[in-house]
Amino acid sequence: MIGFRAFFAVCLLLALGLLVAAAFGSARAAALPPKAADGMRLWSANRCAACHTLYGQGGAYAPDLTHIAAQRGADYLREFFANPGAFHPGQRPMPRFGLTRTETDALIAFLTWTGEQAPAAAWPPRPILVSGGLSAGIAPMIASASTSADDAAARGRALFSSSPAICSTCHALVPDVVVVGPSLASVANRAGSRVTGLSAEEYLRNSILHPGDFVVPGFQDVMQKNFGSLLTSDQISDLVAFLLTLR
Ligand code: HEC
Ligand code: HEC
Repeated sequence: MIGFRAFFAVCLLLALGLLVAAAFGSARAAALPPKAADGMRLWSANRCAACHTLYGQGGAYAPDLTHIAAQRGADYLREFFANPGAFHPGQRPMPRFGLTRTETDALIAFLTWTGEQAPAAAWPPRPILVSGGLSAGIAPMIASASTSADDAAARGRALFSSSPAICSTCHALVPDVVVVGPSLASVANRAGSRVTGLSAEEYLRNSILHPGDFVVPGFQDVMQKNFGSLLTSDQISDLVAFLLTLR
């Protein structure tokens, strides 16, 4: 008999514990601002997680979006959702969801909120830094290769199409191909005469740091404005060195 009572007492405690946990859980969900909560519903309803991950959870077909709001900014994301097919040419396509402006803003609010949560600071996890073996032999070779002369331009070329810069999302290097921004083929030839008083190098640096200062005729001012904080000044110099080779 005693055994039974103890059993029921334990069950009762467990049930209470679950109730408290559920209440605590919903209190935490309520902390999600209403607009972000709408965005979260759209995120599930459109099955974004079938292709994308947040904190690494979801589908591996498309990139992790934990930090996308900080990386791209709201203006870029609005353009992107309106016409995803115009971005990432030649890569896996992202479907067009026909979202309204309100829905787009809600999704952006959700993605912004996601990137601001505590776990985001620890995402992505640190890569394993295995030393020894093959890499011990290769590392010094890579180090000496990258200190050799015109490697600022080579690093800039690599950065142009990789994270976090991904300039290639919007710029082609083939003449006359417009993605979102103008083709940057032979940009070095025109950079020096774009703005009076600015050398080619100064103009290119300023185009990355303050794209709104001079807007190329025929284009909209949608280039993201956060490269100054997203990239180090060395990375920006590398990009400029690369752009100066495009003659
Ligand atoms: C069928 C797969 C698929 C689904 C579903 C999907 N996406 Fe994507 N998404 C992609 C692909 C592919 C890319 C392009 C990235 C690449 O591979 O270069 C992308 C890119 C993005 C980007 C990054 C844009 C950039 O240029 O940096 C955002 C933001 C995004 N998707 C949001 C969403 C949201 C929000 C949803 C749900 C409404 C969604 N995606 C649903 C496949 C998908
Ligand atoms: C969201 C799309 C987008 C991204 C990403 C982007 N750009 Fe742009 N860029 C544009 C647009 C649109 C213009 C034309 C309007 C303007 O001048 O601001 C432009 C203009 C430029 C120009 C001026 C070209 C000229 O002929 O005068 C340069 C240089 C440039 N971008 C470099 C870069 C570099 C380097 C990166 C990566 C660090 C980059 N852009 C990323 C959209 C983008």
